[in-house]
Amino acid sequence: MLDAANTTDTQVETLLDINNIEVIYNHVILVLKGVSLSVPKGGITALLGGNGAGKTTTLKAVSNLLHSERGEVTKGSIYYRGQKVQDLDPAELVRMGVIQVMEGRHCFEHLTVEENLLTGFYTRKGSRAEMERDLEMVYTYFPRLKERRRSQAGYTSGGEQQMVAIGRALMSRPETILLDEPSMGLAPQLVEEIFEIVRDLNEKEGVSFLLAEQNTNVALRFAHYGYILENGRVVMDGPAAELRENPDVKEFYLGMSEEGRKSFRDVRSYRRRKRWLS
Ligand SMILES: Nc1ncnc2c1ncn2[C@@H]1O[C@H](COP(=O)(O)OP(=O)(O)OP(=O)(O)O)[C@@H](O)[C@H]1O
Ligand SMILES: [Mg+2]
Repeated sequence: MLDAANTTDTQVETLLDINNIEVIYNHVILVLKGVSLSVPKGGITALLGGNGAGKTTTLKAVSNLLHSERGEVTKGSIYYRGQKVQDLDPAELVRMGVIQVMEGRHCFEHLTVEENLLTGFYTRKGSRAEMERDLEMVYTYFPRLKERRRSQAGYTSGGEQQMVAIGRALMSRPETILLDEPSMGLAPQLVEEIFEIVRDLNEKEGVSFLLAEQNTNVALRFAHYGYILENGRVVMDGPAAELRENPDVKEFYLGMSEEGRKSFRDVRSYRRRKRWLS
């Protein structure tokens, strides 16, 4: 387990280091209010929080996808392997080994499953033999995609499209995948299947993950470390096993009350304790 490694062992190499970033959309809408987090090599790090907490914005800040949405990192810094990456375009970041799988499992609907996977390979220069080897690697993890390799992606199921999106990212041979909300819209059994594959990729291929998820329950079972975002701020972080046992996380994120998910901020006792807010 990497739990211990994520907490105190400074020997573990940090891949991604986000320091106190602020993100503003349209020059006025302040969405991230000083977010810091780090992603160690070899870990699955979860970024948790409800609707609009700022998870996607954090991932897009890393992969430099905010500009097209009139968003901007106005404070703080982002480093990958010690190199400042804020001014790199997404393609340069892919060459450094970091790729984002967007929320909503974007694939090219008119292309076949296999053609979709190949678009991931073309981000790098590789021989035909390498291409075939990598396709086989993806099919080992996603046998369903092998069965459907000739199907038009637009006609595959939601779960298969999520697999295509992850498989395409794998074809760029990434060191780190920024995975946005893989559980979205999928039946529980498929969510489980996808997360098991994520764990396999982490353990067998050594891919590190920064995983944005609303589904705290499943994310904390598979991740090693978690950060909880609320309203653009990290309100808590810790090893996944500790977060799972934390009474406040249990109450606010793991148990759904009748009215739906509560916020830390809605609860007076939380205000009194306020022990995570510095
Ligand atoms: N392009 C944009 N322009 C203005 N505001 C935006 C833009 N994109 C996101 N926001 C706002 O930023 C906040 C954070 O959004 P973000 O998508 O990062 O949250 P999230 O945690 O990913 O939520 P979800 O779980 O629903 O995907 C929200 O209040 C959202 O309305
Ligand atoms: Mg999101």
